[in-house]
Amino acid sequence: MRRTLAALFSSLVTCISATPKHAGNSTISNPILPGFHPDPSCIFVPEWDNTFFCASSSFNAFPGIPIHASKDLQTWKLIGHVLNRPEQLPKLAETNRSTSGIWAPTIRYNKGTFWLVTTLVDDDLPQTDFSRWTNVIFKGKDPFNPASWSNAVHFNFTGYDTSPYWDKDGKVYITGAHAWQVSPGIHQAEANLDTGEIGEWTNIWNGTGGLAPEGPHIYYKDGYYYLIAAEGGTGLEHMVTMARSKSIHGPYEANPSNPVLTNANTTSYFQTVGHADLFQDAEGNWWGVALSTRSGPEYLYYPMGRETVMTAVTWPKGAYPIWTPVSGEVSVWETPDAHGEVKGAGPVITEGDDIDFAPGSSLPAHFTYWRFPIPDSFTVSPPGHPNTLRLKPSVLNLTALNGNYAGPTGQTFVGRRQQDTLFTYSVNLDFSPSVQEEEAGVTVFLTQNHHLDIGVVMLPANSSTSAFPGTNRTTTTSTELIPHIRFRGISYIPVPDPVIVPLPTAWTNSTLRLEIKASNMTHYSFSVGPADALSETQTILYASNAAVSWGFTGTLLGIYCTSNGGPGKTEAYFSKWRYTGQGQYRS
Ligand SMILES: *[C@@H]1O[C@H](CO)[C@@H](O)[C@H](O)[C@H]1NC(C)=O
Ligand SMILES: *[C@@H]1O[C@H](CO)[C@@H](O)[C@H](O)[C@H]1NC(C)=O
Ligand SMILES: *[C@@H]1O[C@H](CO)[C@@H](O)[C@H](O)[C@H]1NC(C)=O
Ligand SMILES: *[C@@H]1O[C@H](CO)[C@@H](O)[C@H](O)[C@H]1NC(C)=O
Ligand SMILES: *[C@@H]1O[C@H](CO)[C@@H](O)[C@H](O)[C@H]1NC(C)=O
Ligand SMILES: *[C@@H]1O[C@H](CO)[C@@H](O)[C@H](O)[C@H]1NC(C)=O
Ligand SMILES: *[C@@H]1O[C@H](CO)[C@@H](O)[C@H](O)[C@H]1NC(C)=O
Ligand SMILES: *[C@@H]1O[C@H](CO)[C@@H](O)[C@H](O)[C@H]1NC(C)=O
Ligand SMILES: *[C@@H]1O[C@H](CO)[C@@H](O)[C@H](O)[C@H]1NC(C)=O
Ligand SMILES: *[C@@H]1O[C@H](CO)[C@@H](O)[C@H](O)[C@H]1NC(C)=O
Repeated sequence: MRRTLAALFSSLVTCISATPKHAGNSTISNPILPGFHPDPSCIFVPEWDNTFFCASSSFNAFPGIPIHASKDLQTWKLIGHVLNRPEQLPKLAETNRSTSGIWAPTIRYNKGTFWLVTTLVDDDLPQTDFSRWTNVIFKGKDPFNPASWSNAVHFNFTGYDTSPYWDKDGKVYITGAHAWQVSPGIHQAEANLDTGEIGEWTNIWNGTGGLAPEGPHIYYKDGYYYLIAAEGGTGLEHMVTMARSKSIHGPYEANPSNPVLTNANTTSYFQTVGHADLFQDAEGNWWGVALSTRSGPEYLYYPMGRETVMTAVTWPKGAYPIWTPVSGEVSVWETPDAHGEVKGAGPVITEGDDIDFAPGSSLPAHFTYWRFPIPDSFTVSPPGHPNTLRLKPSVLNLTALNGNYAGPTGQTFVGRRQQDTLFTYSVNLDFSPSVQEEEAGVTVFLTQNHHLDIGVVMLPANSSTSAFPGTNRTTTTSTELIPHIRFRGISYIPVPDPVIVPLPTAWTNSTLRLEIKASNMTHYSFSVGPADALSETQTILYASNAAVSWGFTGTLLGIYCTSNGGPGKTEAYFSKWRYTGQGQYRS
């Protein structure tokens, strides 16, 4: 009886949603969340003033698991982070290797509660040891209030990309990707999301034969459980496939027209399209989100990594959904009216930065640390230094111990995502180092093994590789310590050799302006000048962004301060933080 009523109700819902209203088409620009926002999961929540919410992966970045919200599917605002307090998930402090951290969250809303299910990966070697991996559940009543997100509830699964599903009979399931290193496949178990208690995992589908079947979600429609998955790995062969079953337990039959979405084997600028999620707006129109890399099939220059893209989906009754292919401009269903602004802390995703660290202010919501910060290392407007951000040096620099675990002493770094193909990022620096290897500067940071830094560093005068551009000061055999400008890069692919030039005497002890600019699609420039005489600015070098086009994350632009393993304690004062987007390439 109960079953019949439920079936009747769901067919009524289907009836309403089968005839979506749309007066005309809209155009959306991809990516909707530019920059490091991979593995998107999105929902529409009518109860929260018809708002759309999207979560994305954050790896070792903290705060982690950003939530963006929109009412019109055009303007997206960062409203906070699910992982915003170290005590929620202390193990993030210890993840080894730069590919570790938070992978692929799924956000869902059920009866007044927001749920976020994800995996904390510790990708240390050997990669077949999953004892350090953990799957976690967060819940919250108000995504606009970071404090409302719970601490992590852990559950046991030898895998990742976990996603919850509430069945009609009240049972709750988690579907996930079993570790591909040991036996790839989509697995499912009944779960208690409050306690993390988990039933027996069963292998419900293996995908269509592509590498690493992952990123699963379940949707119920027209009498079928639809299972979505990503296959092919998160590179050029990435694709979205689907299967369906009359029973949640399977057997799942593959869609004969798989893949439902991919840009593999195309010349599109948008590659690696996959890892998708589906949601329906108030009019009943279906939408899909996925990750994509703006790289073209050459796949060489993509410093922003995997970004969130959106497209329209047509889902006929009783049939598989049809996805409009992903491109830079997509003709989609008419997007909803904005009906008022989205509240929340963070900036709208297209905004730049004009940040002066005013006394009494705190760091903006989109500022990002690498693992947990030592709070005392970051002080806004300390006494005697209004309108600055003071950084205390960490012993470890941005590479730290061979790119692995940084240890409890942390790394003094804070940045923001690169979100535009072309941009200028600049900041003022007051820093008077006295001990050898004390350093402060700016960086394009992808991982601990991929970053391009330019800063002021105290070194013996005989360290210089050349004269400062525009000056005639030459190299010397003197070992007197003097401040230098140093560019240093590290990557798995070749980077320019370090450039070490003495800081012009006239600039010593004066405020410097450091600038990183993406002046074209492939290169960054690194420049330094006196803040009070910007016409004297010199570009120290150009470096290819191929060095920071790698892996699962995307670049952050930020500031750092380190003693490079030495005893130095000199603090650095940063001010006038600016980031201006100057062009978004979409084709
Ligand atoms: C991190 O990895 C390095 C190198 O593999 C290892 O020496 C170290 O013990 C690891 N640290 C932790 C906390 O697992
Ligand atoms: C987790 O599951 C694995 C595989 O079923 C099992 O070997 C392990 O003991 C479980 N760990 C915990 C903490 O329950
Ligand atoms: C998935 O593949 C494994 C290994 O070949 C096989 O044992 C299992 O039955 C398959 N699962 C399904 C649901 O087809
Ligand atoms: C792309 O082309 C290759 C070679 O023909 C083929 O093996 C692969 O399946 C194709 N990928 C997709 C997702 O269509
Ligand atoms: C409007 O958008 C839908 C969904 O993408 C698509 O199926 C349809 O072809 C579009 N119509 C026009 C006239 O572009
Ligand atoms: C500093 O960076 C260099 C180059 O990336 C690295 O070799 C070194 O181990 C790092 N030192 C410390 C103390 O973090
Ligand atoms: C600078 O001089 C010292 C002392 O002579 C020497 O040990 C060091 O190798 C020199 N450094 C460079 C970069 O030449
Ligand atoms: C550097 O030397 C050249 C040639 O001697 C001279 O013309 C120029 O003015 C000098 N520049 C500076 C900055 O001292
Ligand atoms: C810079 O400041 C330090 C410490 O106040 C001082 O010792 C040094 O002489 C100054 N250098 C210049 C070139 O003014
Ligand atoms: C981008 O700028 C770099 C540095 O000026 C230059 O070498 C490269 O040719 C430029 N690339 C394009 C595509 O314009």
